[in-house]
Amino acid sequence: MTTLPKAELHVHLEGTLEPEDMMRFAARNGLELPWRSPDELRAAYAFTGLENFLSVYFQGCRVLRTRADFHDLTTAYLHRAAAQGVRRAEMLFGPQAFLDHGVPIDDQLGGITDAIDEARESRDIEGALLVSAHRHRTEADALELLDLVRPWRDRILGVGLGSAERGNPPSKFARYFAAARGEGYRTTCHAGEEGPASYVREALDVCQVERIDHGYAAAEVPDLVTRLAEEQVTLTMCPLSNLRLHVTDDLTEYPLKALMDAGVPVTVNSDDPSYFGGYVNENYAAVTDALGLTEAEVKTLARNSFTGSFAQPEELRGVL
Ligand code: HPA
Ligand code: ZN
Repeated sequence: MTTLPKAELHVHLEGTLEPEDMMRFAARNGLELPWRSPDELRAAYAFTGLENFLSVYFQGCRVLRTRADFHDLTTAYLHRAAAQGVRRAEMLFGPQAFLDHGVPIDDQLGGITDAIDEARESRDIEGALLVSAHRHRTEADALELLDLVRPWRDRILGVGLGSAERGNPPSKFARYFAAARGEGYRTTCHAGEEGPASYVREALDVCQVERIDHGYAAAEVPDLVTRLAEEQVTLTMCPLSNLRLHVTDDLTEYPLKALMDAGVPVTVNSDDPSYFGGYVNENYAAVTDALGLTEAEVKTLARNSFTGSFAQPEELRGVL
């Protein structure tokens, strides 16, 4: 598992912030946190659901202020991922929280892209950036975000949509995704994590996204499963996240294998590894144990991670 080459397609850079680094960045930026030690912070990681998690996650975002912070965060993740056999990481990142704190977009994306370039050389890992809008904000905010990142267009592979799902359906962001497509971005959308299967349909039909982040709720709807298989829509599933946010309470009933058996290209990812107790390999291990996956099935998951990525075919030469 450790050395099995794989891609990670669903990880939020902000969710890779380890407690020790949160404390360190807060101290170097002269900021107060409600927790006094990494252990006290870890004790706050008993989440009741997505929105409760997001409130802690956005508190963590407060400590990231300088170009060096974004650089160091990205470097730490890419090094850890490379050590787990990750050869390609498509990383979601939501600038809006940091813009609220007055951090210029150039400091955010400059720090991240410098770290991507360095890790390509030092660790042989390809990092790619997916800018993610917050769905609890307005679509006008998301469109404004597209304007703001336009100078960085050639360093951004695609766009996504995250944050509080219930009550914020994908259709609220139809024009955002249409505009992103018009600019040549690849597209992905969180859907069917806490929200219903109809949000997965909306993401495909109204927003026309290429990939679905989570897609858990789709598993309960046979005709949607058939469609995902027929259209080969990749789901970026995150088992430990779903467990910690009570999307599922038992990984032995996790629908990943059933979806795979039905022909849906599913992948395994970490989402917010520092908050959910595991990076990508711990997620592979958790589903392998709970569902009794065979070696061939694990290899299929790893293969799906490359074929479901937004890489150009020539970039995958040597890993597929
Ligand atoms: N779901 C939705 N938005 C998010 C998540 C998540 O698990 N993590 C970070 N933003
Ligand atoms: Zn996510």
